[in-house]
Amino acid sequence: MEKYTAIYRESIENKEAFWARQAEALHWYKKPRTILSQTDKGFYRWFADGEINISYGCLDYQVEHGRGEQVALIYDSPVTHTMQRFTYRELLDLVARFAGGLQRMGVNRGDTVVIYMPMIPQAVIAMLACARIGAIHSVVFGGFAPHELAMRIDDSHPKAIISASHGVEFDKIIPYKPLVDRAIEEATHKPPVHIFYERTPGYDKLDGAGEVDFNSLLTGETAACIPVLSTDPLYILYTSGTTGKPKGIIRDHGGYATALKFSMDHIYDIAPGDVYWAASDVGWVVGHSYIVYGPLLQGCTSILYEGKPIRTPDAGAFWRVISEHNVNVMFTAPTAIRAIRKEDHEGELLKKYDLSRLKYLFLAGERLDPPTYHWIKDLLQKPVIDHWWQTETGWPMVGIMMGVAHQDPRAGSAGLPVCGYEIHILSDDGVELEKGKEGYIAAKLPLPPGCLPTLWNNDDRFIAGYLQHFPGYYQTGDGGYLDADGYCYIMGRVDDVINVSGHRLSTGEMEELVASHPAIAECAVMGIADELRGQRPVALVVLKDGRELDEEQIEEELVSLIREKIGAVAYFRNAAIVKRLPKTRSGKILRKTIRQIADGEPYAIPSTIDDPAILDEIRETLQERKLGLAFNQV
Ligand code: COA
Ligand code: AMP
Repeated sequence: MEKYTAIYRESIENKEAFWARQAEALHWYKKPRTILSQTDKGFYRWFADGEINISYGCLDYQVEHGRGEQVALIYDSPVTHTMQRFTYRELLDLVARFAGGLQRMGVNRGDTVVIYMPMIPQAVIAMLACARIGAIHSVVFGGFAPHELAMRIDDSHPKAIISASHGVEFDKIIPYKPLVDRAIEEATHKPPVHIFYERTPGYDKLDGAGEVDFNSLLTGETAACIPVLSTDPLYILYTSGTTGKPKGIIRDHGGYATALKFSMDHIYDIAPGDVYWAASDVGWVVGHSYIVYGPLLQGCTSILYEGKPIRTPDAGAFWRVISEHNVNVMFTAPTAIRAIRKEDHEGELLKKYDLSRLKYLFLAGERLDPPTYHWIKDLLQKPVIDHWWQTETGWPMVGIMMGVAHQDPRAGSAGLPVCGYEIHILSDDGVELEKGKEGYIAAKLPLPPGCLPTLWNNDDRFIAGYLQHFPGYYQTGDGGYLDADGYCYIMGRVDDVINVSGHRLSTGEMEELVASHPAIAECAVMGIADELRGQRPVALVVLKDGRELDEEQIEEELVSLIREKIGAVAYFRNAAIVKRLPKTRSGKILRKTIRQIADGEPYAIPSTIDDPAILDEIRETLQERKLGLAFNQV
């Protein structure tokens, strides 16, 4: 504990010196003299006068320092039976060529580029190539529907969109070209250039205006790496908020590089030359930080896995990858572990593989329930480390810093505050709560390097969503408590955001869509507990007077609507008709109470409730429809 306390204290009490020292581990074109500063709006900035390029640190620097022949990226794709290895030198060459191609298509420093791709190396090449020339990428998760893509296009105004012919989900082919075409049709902004990677010959011909083949961009001159300001945006990553409009989280070059490098050493305890595997998707923040930028900055071999924890071909898929590629540190979401446990409870498949090189398994993205923690820890006989963070922060806020000291994780807790994050538990009116009391989790400003400087083109929403409620703090959107030793327990979101299979989604957005159905007078969408997915959304709807629609029909229509507008990943399967919704006297729907009934959690009848009898009606409906763990959910 002393080692941890010493480094943690220094990071809080002597911030600037601490992070200036961490930044020295990186290559800078111009070393920063200003370490921490504030904009005229009071937003914090790290290393404002430094010049750097994260893509240089990931590739050129590694090649120049003797890693040219080391494997940088292993593309392991059981769904296409493909295995491909790229050395640092090969990856650098492809990235520099593609960057040159982008420049010839008119993409320059400060331009935005949307990337909508499956888990293929071309996605990584496109990201690093954008960074190389100072363009800002915005990767959109391939499971999102065209409407979601269109909203992101309209907000980020890309010069180019980069996509592929198709994705593969288990054995299902998902054609991307028609999805991109529909998104562009729906969007007001029309990106002038559309680049497609042809995975297999014969997909939709590229002959529309501005349509080009990915490989054609690889044939010309390479582009040099452009020094950019440390504070220049590297990417925009949209994430779900409480309304239908996603929030464009911005990430900078210099602060992010400093934070990631620090995390590879101090949290993940992984050395250059080791193998790091984050089983996530490049469309999520975990993919950005720990498939692409973090492992490459550290000179590791990173794995790009296009498959699932199960059925590709079986629930031993993860153990096969660890053993075959000698993975030293792995990172995934608890859902993946629950999916494996469901199919191979005794761990028979795991026993087939040699996992001796694996040091740690890190888990994040959603709450790690104690039964899942104990199951995987007992099976692996290695440290299993929960850690907590968000798209906004870009790297962990709470966890066990394995590179500092091996404190024991505590089941149910996400660990101790990571260097740079001062975690506080506050009441609604901003009063610090005592240890053990649950409240809003907030981090004292300034946040350490790597965290969002603001939202893309939306300072007002940044202030309103994160800074306003608790002046001087960043509001995380999660609730929880600290125990007497400072371990942090994350109890879940306090807003309309849910986590379905580790995918962050907005029930607020779903509610807006459900409410748009012509037969619906009002509705509530909540995330209820789900044994496999952690949470899943369920809608309760009140029909307009005189509408005699049958429940099955309305449910079917709403399920298709959410699938069509958000995507299948929302896992929206159920809508139940109720006569009325429970509300406070001021008209606020009591979503939390409904969720507690469905989850079988104890709840107090709110004193402000309009009519307590409605709760009995809701319970009956949920029970009848078997919605919720309390009612043998189906
Ligand atoms: N592109 C297109 N569609 C996608 C998709 C993608 N990238 N990802 C998921 N989908 C679709 C699925 O095909 C499925 O469609 P269907 O309803 O037509 O069958 C739907 O979205 C729901 O998918 P999912 O919730 O993933 O369920 P599943 O049964 O296919 O798989 C798991 C269940 C647990 C195996 C899977 O969710 C999983 O691997 N989760 C781990 C996620 C993860 O690692 N997240 C990391 C975030 S840090
Ligand atoms: P995302 O921005 O998609 O990474 O999702 C972030 C949200 O996921 C957080 O605000 C939490 O609600 C949840 N989350 C992430 N990691 C954890 C964890 N270790 N324990 C509990 N919840 C988590």
